Amino acid sequence: MSESEPKIVAFCCNYCAFAAADLAGAMRIQYPPNVRIVRLPCTGKVDPLLLMKAFEQGADGVFVAGCLEGECHFLEGNLRAKKRVAYVKRLLEEVNIEPERLEMFNLSSADGPIFAEIVEEMTKRVKPLGPTYIGKKVK
Ligand code: FES
Repeated sequence: MSESEPKIVAFCCNYCAFAAADLAGAMRIQYPPNVRIVRLPCTGKVDPLLLMKAFEQGADGVFVAGCLEGECHFLEGNLRAKKRVAYVKRLLEEVNIEPERLEMFNLSSADGPIFAEIVEEMTKRVKPLGPTYIGKKVK
């Protein structure tokens, strides 16, 4: 990863987004290599501390990708994640960090091309913002 590329951390549900990322790879779809995927059993595991920790550890952008609404394998995990992402966006704003650095997406396991588009979108969105003032330099 080059120094000028923003570091993106993706918290992905095992059943949908992680499978979609895997599919994107199998389909040989090109997307920016600056994303680090954290595989979760469900996005319901994402809590505000985890999201803030990602920024503290040097992420320039973070996204949470879960199953489509109504299709979470744990019923409401993705809905809880959506609320937590909205909450952390407000926290980021309060500490003068652009809330658009954080986003929630919903997709299915067949959405390999969409996963690639999400990574492209987050990279384009975060790149002009530069690094956050709290981020440590991590590799
Ligand atoms: Fe995918 Fe809950 S199982 S978001």
